[in-house]
Amino acid sequence: MNVTEAIRSRRSIRKYKNEEIPQEDIHKMLEAAMMCPSARNMRPYTFAVVKSKEKKAEIAAISPNFRMMNSADIAIVVCGRLDIAAGLGHDFWQQDCSAATENILLQALELGYGTCWCGTYPVSERVEGIKKVLGTESENVVPFSVIAVGVADENPPAKGFYDETRVKFY
Ligand SMILES: Cc1cc2nc3c(=O)[nH]c(=O)nc-3n(C[C@H](O)[C@H](O)[C@H](O)COP(=O)(O)O)c2cc1C
Repeated sequence: MNVTEAIRSRRSIRKYKNEEIPQEDIHKMLEAAMMCPSARNMRPYTFAVVKSKEKKAEIAAISPNFRMMNSADIAIVVCGRLDIAAGLGHDFWQQDCSAATENILLQALELGYGTCWCGTYPVSERVEGIKKVLGTESENVVPFSVIAVGVADENPPAKGFYDETRVKFY
């Protein structure tokens, strides 16, 4: 699968098969995340991989929008790290975390997995809920997104969003 195919066929998946993702594939997704472009190359993020059934259920309970976490094999939490994003790079940490999140979605797709990006920051009850699941109270750790990953048990068709009216050439 090339990048053109990956970008155009990716869909959010909210139903997963009960199949385990090998550690080497998880490693590949995290490696892809850490290869994203980063403001001043500060890479102000850390990643939490949640495999525990109980903890996935706790994440699913935080919001109805997170309920697919119950059937996903893993949840990857992309956390912004405010202590790393110091100085000039500070205001860019959300953009860095977005780039890392998207890299995970595309790498997962090529490896044969479905994903769903679940927005966490800046919704405070989601941020606090995820921090509780991860057992951190540090103000420097900000859960930015949670990505459900697993073998897809649904196959939504690719759809095109190209809209000429959103583009202006100068
Ligand atoms: C910042 C962000 C937050 C999102 N949060 C959620 C969420 O909490 N739950 C969910 O089911 N999908 C979530 N999504 C997925 C969107 O609903 C989805 O990308 C959109 O409907 C387009 O569908 P597609 O991904 O299949 O192209 C989120 C996507 C983004 C980019």
